[in-house]
Amino acid sequence: LRLVVLISGGGSNLRALLDASQDAEFPARVVAVGADRQADGLAHAEHYGIPSFVVPFTSFDSREAWGDELLAQLREWQPDVVVLSGLMRLLPAQVVAEYAPAIINTHPAYLPEFPGAHGVRDALAAGVTETGASVIVVDDGVDSGPILHQRRVPVEPGDTEATLHERIKPVERELLIQTVLDLANGTIDLKEYRA
Ligand code: GRF
Repeated sequence: LRLVVLISGGGSNLRALLDASQDAEFPARVVAVGADRQADGLAHAEHYGIPSFVVPFTSFDSREAWGDELLAQLREWQPDVVVLSGLMRLLPAQVVAEYAPAIINTHPAYLPEFPGAHGVRDALAAGVTETGASVIVVDDGVDSGPILHQRRVPVEPGDTEATLHERIKPVERELLIQTVLDLANGTIDLKEYRA
């Protein structure tokens, strides 16, 4: 299964996928890593000798133009599935139109609770005693697509956004690896989610 992973940050979820795909038995390959900025996580791609590309959001005068370039880059790599893992931008409509439902996203909350860019902060602010991690199919909404895997993560007294996020991320990584395995072995067929 050919994966292109899109990131904006440290890429800890990406690293987990790259680590897993070092095992020859792992039925998926990260064929390229893309980013909307010079993300720290690109170092993981370099470490594993995986091609990467940057489409700097700030270099384009519109989301549309940025999306066109991102789409052109994605087409180069012929992904079977596009994995958003810490991409902090909404995918442009033309990218969703071309690849959905073969686009999955990891989110550090128990969707549909706390969607959006600050799911960890929002859960903390809401004072809940448990939040979670989710892997969903990307649709044209914000973290609104069908849920493929999710698991609860406890909020501990005294948690900060950072400590809570660090407790959520390992669960996210596990769910992401499991989802990729399910996609590769047919347990999950994304075609069932075609709008
Ligand atoms: C992850 O929790 C992801 O779900 C969220 O932002 C975080 C990115 O972490 N969108 P990393 O870049 O994978 O370390």
